[in-house]
Amino acid sequence: MLNFDFYNPTQILFGKGRIADLNKVVPADARVLVLYGGGSIKSNGVFAEVMAALAGRTVKEFPGIEPNPSYETLMRAVEIVREEKLDFLLAVGGGSVIDGTKFVAAAANFEGEPWAILETRGRNIKQALPFGTILTLPATGSEMNNGSVITRKSLKAKMAFSSQLVFPKFSILDPAKTFTLPVRQIGNGVVDAYAHIMEQYLTYPVNAPVQDRFAEGLLLTLIEEGPKALANPEDYDVRANIMWCATLALNGLIGAGVPQDWATHMVGHELTALYGLDHAQTLAIVLPGMLRVRKESKRAKLLQYAERIWNITAGTEDARIDEAIKRTQDFFEQMGVKTRLSDYKLGSGNIDEVLQQLESHRMVALGEQRDVTLDVSRKVLELSV
Ligand code: NZQ
Ligand code: ZN
Repeated sequence: MLNFDFYNPTQILFGKGRIADLNKVVPADARVLVLYGGGSIKSNGVFAEVMAALAGRTVKEFPGIEPNPSYETLMRAVEIVREEKLDFLLAVGGGSVIDGTKFVAAAANFEGEPWAILETRGRNIKQALPFGTILTLPATGSEMNNGSVITRKSLKAKMAFSSQLVFPKFSILDPAKTFTLPVRQIGNGVVDAYAHIMEQYLTYPVNAPVQDRFAEGLLLTLIEEGPKALANPEDYDVRANIMWCATLALNGLIGAGVPQDWATHMVGHELTALYGLDHAQTLAIVLPGMLRVRKESKRAKLLQYAERIWNITAGTEDARIDEAIKRTQDFFEQMGVKTRLSDYKLGSGNIDEVLQQLESHRMVALGEQRDVTLDVSRKVLELSV
């Protein structure tokens, strides 16, 4: 096992009716900015519950954080925080609202142009406002981690940052609040969580059976529960299992002490920045090709994955690996997330542009072995047409 630091201070309040507990976890004298997205929380009643639970505090609102939150939008929230002297942020929504709130928390008292936070990937953050989250879309794990991904539309750049200062103070996870998700977002969430686990599990063995078996348990749970969420959208237990799975998939636990890949995510971010695809759609396109192209360096883990996740034990090593990757791709399709560039009206004509973006963002030595060069990324994209 590799050396590691594990730190996660986020308090989780999980279960039905937990929004009422906001009253206990937001300081009574807080001056709060509630940040949210395009309005789903207004139509499903979450907003009204939040406002009731915050009664007695000074509360301002910032609506309109878009999927793949933009620097341009978030800087308007930073202005409001500064003008109104607000001191606590509350994100209500999916990963985009939470990531956006992390940025606002870090930018509010930042000296200089806050885009520098992205340019240094968060290393220059010296302070951040405290914030909590109410999660309405299980997918990213942002509710219990210290990462955030922000897009600057004018540069077509989608960049990540992280800092120990942007862990949420608390996150409220009520699975019943995910019943109103559109089918597309249910599928996206399961595929994103699945890909997070694969980025931390499907590398090379370092004799870390605890992390492996945690990861395998989470993968198997997504495979079992994901299709049930599509078939029975109001099954509370199914939603509860998916929600906790997605949080555990990226809260630092399964990635501690093991190599991590993340090449699929980095290539995927460029596809979103250039063509506006949903985050999970990009992962469904890139991950199968990434595993195929890097079969040799990932061979031992691919065989373990084939056996323990898909029960594939017969045939040559190559046949078992190929079958496991095919089943992975089939699972994404089963969740309603298409897996080819051509499904999104893209093709080989777009590959050069994606590679240019990767190069300009210095994404030229990705993966757990730093061997995903631009040539490797090209092969992956060619396989994904
Ligand atoms: O904006 P509203 O109206 O709320 O609608 C949203 C949005 O249109 C809707 N939605 C959310 N909860 C709902 C709901 N609709 C009905 N009922 C509900 N309960 O879903 C749409 C998508 O929301 P979004 O927040 O964009 O989705 P997701 O949670 O998948 O977040 C994606 C973002 O997270 C980043 C991605 O890059 C992308 O920008 N990621 C963040 C990570 C992190 N911080 O650790 C890791 C991930 O790998 C990922 O990169
Ligand atoms: Zn992701």
